[in-house]
Amino acid sequence: MKTILLTGAAGGVGAFLRKEFKGIYNLRLSDIVPITDLSEGETFVPANLTDLDAVKAATDGVDGIFHLGGYSIEGDWQTILDANIIGLRNLYEAAYQTGVKRVVFASSNHAAGFYRRDNIIDHTAIPRPDSRYGVSKAFGEAMGALYADKYGLEVTCIRIGNVAMEPADKRRLSIWVTPRDLAQLVSIGLEHPKIHYEIFYGMSDNKQAWWDNSNALSFGYQPKDKNEQFFDEVLAAEPPKEDGDLTEIYQGGTFVASEAGGAPQKTR
Ligand SMILES: NC(=O)c1ccc[n+]([C@@H]2O[C@H](COP(=O)([O-])OP(=O)(O)OC[C@H]3O[C@@H](n4cnc5c(N)ncnc54)[C@H](O)[C@@H]3O)[C@@H](O)[C@H]2O)c1
Repeated sequence: MKTILLTGAAGGVGAFLRKEFKGIYNLRLSDIVPITDLSEGETFVPANLTDLDAVKAATDGVDGIFHLGGYSIEGDWQTILDANIIGLRNLYEAAYQTGVKRVVFASSNHAAGFYRRDNIIDHTAIPRPDSRYGVSKAFGEAMGALYADKYGLEVTCIRIGNVAMEPADKRRLSIWVTPRDLAQLVSIGLEHPKIHYEIFYGMSDNKQAWWDNSNALSFGYQPKDKNEQFFDEVLAAEPPKEDGDLTEIYQGGTFVASEAGGAPQKTR
């Protein structure tokens, strides 16, 4: 069985994926938050992503990495810089220095949140980040391309929508992905022989999606879950929005509207 490093394993997606990968991979879990409820096949290696030596100790000897660790919402610049920019660079550099070829990066829809919802985008869409967080995900995609093209890593960036058992609201109906569908995408990134540098969208089989996920489908992705069954209930519960509401126009939702028009003190 292959050993896969999950960074950010103490977080919400980490918890989902630990269940999905049980019995499929041995898991080396890493985080700044200790994980004590280890199951068979799991080990824990603490690492702050800002510490390259600690990250190298976590990557050394694994067969592949799913990089979930980092600050997972909008934050001030220093927080994003430390966890998602420096931390991200350290992850790729540690993988390179310890000879780990396969890296799957948890990118985000917020790397491309400033596309309109009536604009269907695919894996060739250039980043249009909606936040400092989104910029850090675009940076992670760019670093993935650099380490693939120049240093021989095999990198898959998954622009994840929202990972949940059920879609929570209208926006998340379109970008919903179940843990088992995400696990399938991650496994493709870890295993498929033809991966060099790829971008997939992390979504299930969603009606009224804004993403053309044909690149993931071309690598064999077969989502098992459909959003269709949740439509009526979720839409009935959604309060109406005013015309021109940015959170309704753009894919990034509330991330788009936050600080819209300028809030320079936030970027220091
Ligand atoms: N949850 C989603 O639906 C979703 C959607 C899009 C992208 N993502 C991405 O997937 C990843 C996981 O998301 P999540 O919802 O589980 O987030 P989360 O915040 O629950 O988990 C992130 C984990 O990273 C760890 N972390 C933060 N800074 C760290 C550092 N400096 N060193 C080591 N570990 C550090 C945290 O302790 C935490 O356990 C994130 O990168 C997030 O941006 C998640």
